[in-house]
Amino acid sequence: MFEVLPKLPADPILGLSAAYKEDSNPNKIDLGVGVYKDEDGKTPILTSVAKAQNILMQKEDSKTYIAPQGNQGFIDGMLELLLGKGHPALLENRVSAVQAPGGCGALRILAELLKRCNDKLTVWVSDPTWANHIPLIGNAGLHLEKYPYFDKETASINFEGMVKCLEKVNKGDVVLLHGCCHNPTGADLSQVQWQKVMELAKERGFIPFIDTAYQGFGDGLEEDAYGVRLMAENLPEVIVAASCSKNFGLYRERVGLAAMITRDNLSREITQSQIQSIARGIYSMPPSYGGALVDIILNDAELKAEWMQEVESMRSRMQDLRHLLASKLKEKGASKDFSFVTQQKGMFSFLCISPDQVQQIRKDHSVYFVDSSRVNIAGISHKNVDALASALVSIL
Ligand code: LMR
Repeated sequence: MFEVLPKLPADPILGLSAAYKEDSNPNKIDLGVGVYKDEDGKTPILTSVAKAQNILMQKEDSKTYIAPQGNQGFIDGMLELLLGKGHPALLENRVSAVQAPGGCGALRILAELLKRCNDKLTVWVSDPTWANHIPLIGNAGLHLEKYPYFDKETASINFEGMVKCLEKVNKGDVVLLHGCCHNPTGADLSQVQWQKVMELAKERGFIPFIDTAYQGFGDGLEEDAYGVRLMAENLPEVIVAASCSKNFGLYRERVGLAAMITRDNLSREITQSQIQSIARGIYSMPPSYGGALVDIILNDAELKAEWMQEVESMRSRMQDLRHLLASKLKEKGASKDFSFVTQQKGMFSFLCISPDQVQQIRKDHSVYFVDSSRVNIAGISHKNVDALASALVSIL
């Protein structure tokens, strides 16, 4: 029976890892999948995470099911990280949340919830957005539309276009925003721009759905929560999907949070029961391990401080690499000005070159990144930056 289905091409992002592994060139460079790497190209286990693992090994005394909503210490710690301590929505008991299997799991549960609320609503996503947003939200049966976001010509946000489009969004529609470190462009809204979007949401009655997968990698843990907090303070309903893959380095544990800021305690109870029933119908309850580690870290002052320091050092390394790449390209006489890379935030930058040029650099120089021209900044190192800059200059 399965032959009725077509064989599908490799995933545009994850497929790059397989292609990179198969490449026998010893000088190959991997700027594909969004995973943090150190100077040696390794993705280390954070020291705070390793310590939490030891603590967990000592204290875990059962492998029975965890609660349907997940680990409550994890949920509370994550909500505080996202919304800040003593946020009115938390104090007023207006936030429902579950631990989810990764940011992806969170996005899907929330999309299913939206579908249950209104299967006619449209979810507006930025153009471009993370490629996996489309199936994660679209496969729940929701209609997707794009709003202008990034202008490749100027390598900056097309805020005017974005506003014009959002001015026409219907009441009850949902607008997906990237909390920080926009994936794939690295171009983030300024605080003033966030305020404008919040005002538009108020005027038009659309609901912000904020995907925040890189908190701490942009300007800092607090700074990167600006958009989420602003929306949650000023709007009655806000949807948030968060991931611990990147800032805790817990990629394979699949740990994330699906949360909703609701109008009142009744809506909180309704949405809490609904998301738990959605999760039950897909995977029952989240895996325990990753959430238990984050719970330990966020609820232990010393470990939390150590983790914050680790996030800060990943952030500043990526910031340095942005400057290094831009200056190497200038030094090698690139015909294009890449200084915009230093202004962008987080793990990714759009190099604003064509898919043909991306293919060519892959074929000729074994440099791997997404066809859209998104590069993982963390894949750059002092060892490979010369070769990378020369390869880029040669294909421009
Ligand atoms: C990425 O954007 O590269 C990461 O979020 C990994 C993924 O699942 O696509």
